[in-house]
Amino acid sequence: MEKQEIRTFGRRHGKKLSSRQNWLIENVLPTLKPTTGDILEIGFGAGEHVRDLARTNPGKIIIGAEPFMNGVASLLSAITDEKSNQVLDEYTGIRIWADDVRDFLRKTDSKFSQIWILHPDPWPKARHEKRRLLSAEFLNTLSKHLANDGEIIIGTDHWEYFDWILEQIRDTDLSATLADFEIIQTRYQHKNKAGTESPKYLILRH
Ligand SMILES: C[S@@+](CC[C@H](N)C(=O)[O-])C[C@H]1O[C@@H](n2cnc3c(N)ncnc32)[C@H](O)[C@@H]1O
Repeated sequence: MEKQEIRTFGRRHGKKLSSRQNWLIENVLPTLKPTTGDILEIGFGAGEHVRDLARTNPGKIIIGAEPFMNGVASLLSAITDEKSNQVLDEYTGIRIWADDVRDFLRKTDSKFSQIWILHPDPWPKARHEKRRLLSAEFLNTLSKHLANDGEIIIGTDHWEYFDWILEQIRDTDLSATLADFEIIQTRYQHKNKAGTESPKYLILRH
């Protein structure tokens, strides 16, 4: 029996979905189930960055993992044609795992060239620290799914979480460098709940 894992995400469902969104979840989502892929984005929120990845990496399979169904529905609406409900040409490389990424990683033997995690839930209260996704244990799992020259790219505006991630990395086989990126625009980045000046980005490599 698998060990019971601590839940790292908040809600799975938010406000009521439109009938088109429900239709897309029932009919299109099952056709986008991932097996293997080239690039993984974990916790894609509304999926803006998954779409950027698909547009800038034609021919690659981009897997997005997100258990929040309203986010999954937003991504499905954005990648399909409003009339035909067909996936638009520029987004045919996208696959969606609408659940905990840890369950997907147990099923796939993919080695990714990039793994993106933008604004992981910071779980700022001390009693919730164990819910933080980017523990050493999880980073070691990601390391196993990283191609030899692959990169894990992490962005957060929660600087205390950022320092905590750096501590976790010490117990992994990964090395970290600070990345000097332009700010990557996502829904959560715009909210800037932490109230810091800007996000910090890290690149982890073998
Ligand atoms: C703070 S939001 C950021 C969303 C998006 N990346 C952005 O920047 O707008 C963190 C997201 O990570 C997702 N998440 C948390 N734990 C996860 C897990 N184990 N597997 C996949 N997604 C997860 C949550 O559901 C949530 O949508």
